Amino acid sequence: MGQHRSVIYMDHAATSWPKPAAVQEAIVKAMLEEGANPGRGGHWMAVQAGKRLMRARMALAKLFGIANPTDIAFTLNATMALNMAIHGYVRPGDHVVATAVEHNSVRRPLEWLKIHRDVRVTYIDADPYGSLNLNQLQDAVTDNTRLVVCNHSSNLLGSILPIEEIAMIAHKKGAKLLVDGAQSAGLLPIDVRKMGIDMLAFPGHKGLLGPTGTGGLYIDPELDVQPIIQGGTGSHSDEPLQPATRPDRYEAGTPNTMGIAGLEAGVNTVLHETVEKLYNKEWTLAQRLMEGLQSIDTLHILGPQLGEPRTGIVSFISSTMDSAEFAFRLDREYGIAVRAGYHCTPLAHQAAGTIATGAVRVSVGWNTTDDDIDTVIDAIQNITEHSIRQESEHQ
Ligand code: ALA
Repeated sequence: MGQHRSVIYMDHAATSWPKPAAVQEAIVKAMLEEGANPGRGGHWMAVQAGKRLMRARMALAKLFGIANPTDIAFTLNATMALNMAIHGYVRPGDHVVATAVEHNSVRRPLEWLKIHRDVRVTYIDADPYGSLNLNQLQDAVTDNTRLVVCNHSSNLLGSILPIEEIAMIAHKKGAKLLVDGAQSAGLLPIDVRKMGIDMLAFPGHKGLLGPTGTGGLYIDPELDVQPIIQGGTGSHSDEPLQPATRPDRYEAGTPNTMGIAGLEAGVNTVLHETVEKLYNKEWTLAQRLMEGLQSIDTLHILGPQLGEPRTGIVSFISSTMDSAEFAFRLDREYGIAVRAGYHCTPLAHQAAGTIATGAVRVSVGWNTTDDDIDTVIDAIQNITEHSIRQESEHQ
């Protein structure tokens, strides 16, 4: 057994940790009692595993206001879901509109389509705080636009995009809206019907508190999205083509049943706690952290101002120390786990003016406490003072 190191985990935006006890127990239970392949056999264990998947789909449908749970396909993560949506819906020569705060899991498939499928892509500007230029969006979406893609919340800035307004602009011109819920699922209210979301990509392992290797894609029943993975589904096996029925159309191959058992428990935890309570907790912790960090002159905090809506992500740059070194020292000297660098979102760094520096990202989660925040503030203060002392000694 490896040595367990005490850690203050502030990297929930990458994946939430630890997972609630109910999630851990559900995974073990599935492993012990329901370890068969769902949909591939009529025996009791296979049926139990199939029921488990349907229960998880139902919990997700309840959380996201989805009428029919079979409109949700399970994926490995949000990246896979975004790729399924983008490659499955956008055709050669189409026009797509995205934003200046997108993650590489949106930008890279779009840039690939630009080169290989002659797709035109327009990125809408955001200001340094992550607010979108909605007038530019209005002008950019035309009758030829097939898809608008945007994240619900930036994984660098913690800013929140106005999904309903974006949906209205897209729909007015007949375009569909794909939302990247990587940083919002389980943390911000999402109702696909009320908000006008045509496709929703979400991870299971962040705000939904499930294990890594889980995620999903909701596709509006009216939308014809081609499957990008085809193969065995345990259904219509005599047919040469992928079945048209959902979710089989989008779920070829053996699913991650044990992971999805954990995801179901995670979603039920979120439903029980409520999204509103979880958001308020993260927002309050983020405010405490921002207040502490704002008193350190050499730091610049990214994203929305104090008091404004944001998720539990607080990123900063330091004028006295490189971001990677800052994160390294937090880890090695204080046991505080944060993420540094470009966070797979160079577009958002361009908007924030931090493309040359990257940033240190502190992200709180369901189990973060006020004491954790105060310890992080003290550690950042100490590292800053130390670096200033060192600099003056060298002069
Ligand atoms: N996209 C995840 C992050 O922002 C992994 O850290």
